[in-house]
Amino acid sequence: MMSYESPKDEIKRAADIVELIGQYVQLKKAGRNYVGLCPFHAEKDPSFTVSPERQTFHCFGCKKGGDVFSFWMEYHSCEFPEALRELAERYHVTISKGFSGDAWREKEALKEALFNITEKAATYFQMELGHNVRGKAAREYLRRRSVSKEIVSEFRLGYAPDKWEGLTSFLKSRKVSMDMAVQAGLVVERKGGGHYDRFRNRVIFPILDLRQQIIGFGGRVLDDSLPKYLNTPESPIFHKGETLYGLHASHQAIRQKGRTVIVEGYMDCLALRKYGLDEVVATLGTALTDRHIRKLKGYAPEAVVVFDSDEAGKKAALKSLPVFLNEGLSARAALLPDGHDPDSFINEKGADGFSRLLDKASFMFDFFLEQKLKQSDSDVEGKVRVLKEIFPVLGLLHNDAQRALYVRRVSERVGIKEDVIWSQLRSVRKTRSEKSVESNLRQQLAASRAEKRVSDLQLLNLLVHYPHTAVRLAECECKVLLSDPVIMEIVETIFEKFGLEGQHSVEDLPESLKTESARNRLRETLIEPSYYPEETVEQAVAEFEEKVKRVKISASILRARERGDIEDLNRLLKLKAQGPPGSHV
Ligand code: CTP
Ligand code: MN
Repeated sequence: MMSYESPKDEIKRAADIVELIGQYVQLKKAGRNYVGLCPFHAEKDPSFTVSPERQTFHCFGCKKGGDVFSFWMEYHSCEFPEALRELAERYHVTISKGFSGDAWREKEALKEALFNITEKAATYFQMELGHNVRGKAAREYLRRRSVSKEIVSEFRLGYAPDKWEGLTSFLKSRKVSMDMAVQAGLVVERKGGGHYDRFRNRVIFPILDLRQQIIGFGGRVLDDSLPKYLNTPESPIFHKGETLYGLHASHQAIRQKGRTVIVEGYMDCLALRKYGLDEVVATLGTALTDRHIRKLKGYAPEAVVVFDSDEAGKKAALKSLPVFLNEGLSARAALLPDGHDPDSFINEKGADGFSRLLDKASFMFDFFLEQKLKQSDSDVEGKVRVLKEIFPVLGLLHNDAQRALYVRRVSERVGIKEDVIWSQLRSVRKTRSEKSVESNLRQQLAASRAEKRVSDLQLLNLLVHYPHTAVRLAECECKVLLSDPVIMEIVETIFEKFGLEGQHSVEDLPESLKTESARNRLRETLIEPSYYPEETVEQAVAEFEEKVKRVKISASILRARERGDIEDLNRLLKLKAQGPPGSHV
């Protein structure tokens, strides 16, 4: 089995952890490190720390941490191979084929085979759209809907002809296994045996990922028949709930313009692009999920979601607010006039008209508040109802300044004193957080236990920040001073490596550690500053040596007592009484 080593190292060299994490977490410089609110657990004060020097991150709250790969895996809830692939893509590192473990290779091989089929199918659909006779109606349809030739070719639009076995026989002729074509969602099995095309007589929209691979298709009828759209079902390569149509083409524009415009449909996305609004993606009709937002928030700090003005559109807007707040992406809601969708609106009003609509978009929270106020009566009962819905949302805000701002807004709009809202908010939070009382208690308990571990921590800190001290510390058997099994594991590993290699470097230490808690602890120590200024290191080592001696004497006293060896006992007691700590015996 080959190892991940080389591409992994290459990515590590290319990536800057502060820059990468900074795209997802707002980081502030604090001494040598950067800190921010942890994206992995709820917190109000930043304990999430990123070290540019070590190229690691560590949360002192939830203890999650590691390198760029650990961050990516945790943040995007994926496995290492995926993180490797995605980061390789991001930093333009090539990964050679046939690289990695068997299970992953099998999965990758399946995906590869499916991409191969979707690619063939896309070519077929494109060909059919271009066909003089068979593609005529579809070309006509696209023209009627103002889809330009450039867009057709850039987005690889196609046409599935009105046949039961068009694509099916095309794929067969290309030696594609029908089982695989079924898995790709392009072909359907007949009850009595045999296969037929899923997409018939539809305009085809291939859905591409960031590597320009086709993960699925959407197909639209040319008339009013139903269903209007048909999509590839979920497959090993297609997951609708995290897919953003158009992102493969728009991510650069999104980054440049600092915002993402989110629409619902294929046609909307293409229409906006035709008018030069390139920072657009479509959700394919599904509600916005946290996975959508996570994909986007790395590219731009703000999203503008364009909603239809009908009930369904407003409902969708209201539902998306908590998702944005939870993910910490600033969002605004642009409401279209009655009867319009983004496609029809921009085709009627042009790019300027659409930009004005975007500029007018209100912050999602304000939109939420206004909608809730509109929906309920202005009597006391109505206000109570609005407040009840707003409190949990206020609780989701990451930022205290922002919360204060919104509390003021609510106070003005609902006509209730800010104080009342604050006290209400606190009580809402209190009842919700018996758990937090518990964790507070736990923290305090841990702190008192921590006092006993001071010398463990000091020793570890010294060893990690001044590796050369390992010589003397190993020699004097300083292990007898340790009580924390986690720190013991690290110290033993350091000494072991030292014994074997005559030196130890902290860089490759994490891999030698067996337990997760040891790796966490080491990371924490690496990210923490050294407790000892350079000029006091010598003194510190001497003190540890002294401590070890005293511990050893105490142990010998015990043993002498057990043996009843009075002579030895006397000698030892004298030794113990001699000299204050720090002086040499
Ligand atoms: N959609 C879908 N299945 C449907 C209807 C809609 O998957 N039966 C998805 C499609 O991705 C579609 C989006 O939801 O693009 C928005 O739906 P809708 O507003 O109905 O379609 P439009 O994009 O406006 O389509 P058109 O303008 O072509 O009528
Ligand atoms: Mn439409």
